[in-house]
Amino acid sequence: MVVEKSESTSKATTSKEMTFASVLKNPIYQRRDVLYALTPPTGFLHRTEQKNELVMELAPILMGNAVSSVFVYGNPGTGKTGLILELIKELEEEAKKNDINLKTAYVNCSENRTETVILLEVLNQLAQDKEYPKMGWNRAKAIDEFNKVLDELQCHVLVVLDEVDYVLKEAGDDILYRLSRINGDIKSQVSSIMISNDVRVSDYIKPRTQSTIGRVKVIFAPYNAEELMDILKERARFAFKEGVVSEPVLKKIAEIEATRDGDARKALELLDNCAKGAIAKKRTKITLDLVDEADANLERDQMLNVIASLTQHQKLAYLAILNNQKKIMGGMDVYKLYLETCESYNIEPLTERRVRSFVVNLNETGLIQSEVGWLSDLKKKTRKIEVTLDTALKNKAIKLIRDSI
Ligand SMILES: Nc1ncnc2c1ncn2[C@@H]1O[C@H](COP(=O)(O)OP(=O)(O)OP(=O)(O)O)[C@@H](O)[C@H]1O
Ligand SMILES: [Mg+2]
Repeated sequence: MVVEKSESTSKATTSKEMTFASVLKNPIYQRRDVLYALTPPTGFLHRTEQKNELVMELAPILMGNAVSSVFVYGNPGTGKTGLILELIKELEEEAKKNDINLKTAYVNCSENRTETVILLEVLNQLAQDKEYPKMGWNRAKAIDEFNKVLDELQCHVLVVLDEVDYVLKEAGDDILYRLSRINGDIKSQVSSIMISNDVRVSDYIKPRTQSTIGRVKVIFAPYNAEELMDILKERARFAFKEGVVSEPVLKKIAEIEATRDGDARKALELLDNCAKGAIAKKRTKITLDLVDEADANLERDQMLNVIASLTQHQKLAYLAILNNQKKIMGGMDVYKLYLETCESYNIEPLTERRVRSFVVNLNETGLIQSEVGWLSDLKKKTRKIEVTLDTALKNKAIKLIRDSI
């Protein structure tokens, strides 16, 4: 739970009473993280048709043939990223059994918005003994290196470009054209999957590319109430203690979300919010009356409001901090990561001094905890920075920032 710093709305007051100890001792959760896991505890439900289509499309890779861009469309929270990552794992295992040298790369294009940074990100994932920092490359140099490395690897490469609409809208379709035309020029074979929220994505693809990419489209439709109900029920079994949540509660959540976007992520979030409400009210069960209240304050999370109101460059700096793997980072790292983030978003960076002042602001708003002190691996004093959001909130924050830059 985040530290509440602002004025006392009724929600802030109830949140204030919570401590880490009380959350751990709660009678509600068994494993809260299950609600936010990308991979469901017992696999994806109601996606057999999509999975079968994708298996059929990707199977030629196991026979040594390249697959030209498979397009996957669907609204947010319909299981695209999760299902495809699961399938890729299965494909990798099968390739190993069949002695096919397959390497895969997954790139989120909302965080990598130019052809250059996408190619570098793919290289970073393929060539594990080498690191490609994103600064200081121009397009021609990145393309040369990409072709060189793939030529040397002599294997099968599957590239997944997720949220590809971002790059198509901002940087054009060159990356798609390149990936679809590369086979024949190099000694590796390249297959690709494109994932998009926007069904009209083909409007952004030029005719010259349209003619070289695959015609296959796999659609992930929004979930209906019954499907959401099954998804919620399965997670609830693992996330909560026995008897905490009843069917009518899950049914109500499923119905609410089905009438909106059919978004499984939002349904799971609402369920989590109901659980938080129950804990705040010191209840031992999630009851029907908690659903409406939880739904009403779902969007009003104070921290998310603060994040939404940051300026573009503050958001870039915060995203750089959020994406950092280390729990505690030094002040000097922030500027380096900020520069890389700007490069990925194709945005002109500000000076180090400005970014240092953002760090001070972020600290004041409670989005990070920052203090001057000793970092264990450094000989001098530096600003130590720690993210204060829990995993669930962190995921939401990253998504919110990506969507708003
Ligand atoms: N069929 C399903 N069964 C179980 N859980 C699911 C299903 N579909 C989605 N989920 C869950 O919903 C959440 C969102 O799924 P995912 O991130 O794959 O959606 P997405 O379509 O990629 O969304 P976006 O377009 O916003 O990136 C994840 O936690 C995922 O596990
Ligand atoms: Mg996704």
